[in-house]
Amino acid sequence: MLFLGIETSCDETAVAVFDDALRIHANVIASQTDIHRRFGGVVPEVAARAHLQRLLPVLDDALNQAKVSLAQIDCVAVHSTPGLVGALLVGVSAAKMLALALDVPLVSVNHIEAHIYACRVAAQRDIFPCIGLVVSGGHTSLFHCPAPVRFELLGATTDDAAGEAFDKVAHILGLGFPGGPAIEREAAQGNPRAYAFPRSFMQHDRLDFSFSGLKTAVLYAVHGQGVSTGPPPPPGQRRADLAASFQQAVIDVLVAKAQRALRKTGLTRLAVGGGVAANRALRAALADMAQRENAELFIPPLALCTDNAAMAAQAVEKWRLGLLASLDLDAVPSYRPA
Ligand code: KG4
Ligand code: ZN
Repeated sequence: MLFLGIETSCDETAVAVFDDALRIHANVIASQTDIHRRFGGVVPEVAARAHLQRLLPVLDDALNQAKVSLAQIDCVAVHSTPGLVGALLVGVSAAKMLALALDVPLVSVNHIEAHIYACRVAAQRDIFPCIGLVVSGGHTSLFHCPAPVRFELLGATTDDAAGEAFDKVAHILGLGFPGGPAIEREAAQGNPRAYAFPRSFMQHDRLDFSFSGLKTAVLYAVHGQGVSTGPPPPPGQRRADLAASFQQAVIDVLVAKAQRALRKTGLTRLAVGGGVAANRALRAALADMAQRENAELFIPPLALCTDNAAMAAQAVEKWRLGLLASLDLDAVPSYRPA
């Protein structure tokens, strides 16, 4: 069985070809970072138009890399929720058109669940039941995942997502877009204990998150208490210390909550996905914690952490269970099980 996966939820146009044994035959990703950089963030309308221009060439690339023709595709999978609605619509429309034209089943996949499922694809063995932690630009959520298509939300951010905080703090520090990799590079030269930034919601038995207070604390550390505008700090030790201390605060919170979720549920597997999971300091801290907890940690390689279409392989599980989508499938911007 050959599956075609399509991802257009934000600013990555991606198409993958995989099979029902979860082998990836092609995983093509066209990033729009260069287009959005000059705006300092993703512009939804621009993203949707870029998906329109790029989706068919990316589809051709994926088929060529996989050395298959469209006629050999047995099932079409698409991330239909959550994301930017105009961006999602491009992928959903293309997937419906392909499923109709090829007369093959259509499967709708939730992008957030797919970030966890990327761990299953990368591990090439069962990872369920597990705790799932998604840390991306739009979401920071903990799930109890008893089975590959059952995701029960344990807690989510009440304001900014972790990746969003990285992007906003990078902007405050004058480090550009996208913020995550820029902060990680800057933090490598800094002291993570230089600034005592807040770790929110830690004192309670909570599994939800808040990162907006942390962002504001960095802002005030840069410009002075209560002052929210001014030039970014110049390159140097202070800027590196600010980046390192911010990054450490995010890591401490994510590690503590993941540990809490493992203990609360008694589960011994942790699967982590989303763009922020590309952060090497976070990966190392999660690995330390997992070792202390005698838990198994699953984090995909970097290319499967950030947005891609191979993670749509959750569709294989859905297809097996007969969980197919109809041709009136809609793009749903807010989180909803697909
Ligand atoms: O999962 P993703 O590619 O897209 C969404 O679904 O949102 O995540 C993008 C987010 C961005 O906020 C980006 O700054 C962050 O992931 N990110 C990182 C790193 N690489 C990407 N954050 C921290 N460290 C990184 N190395
Ligand atoms: Zn994502």
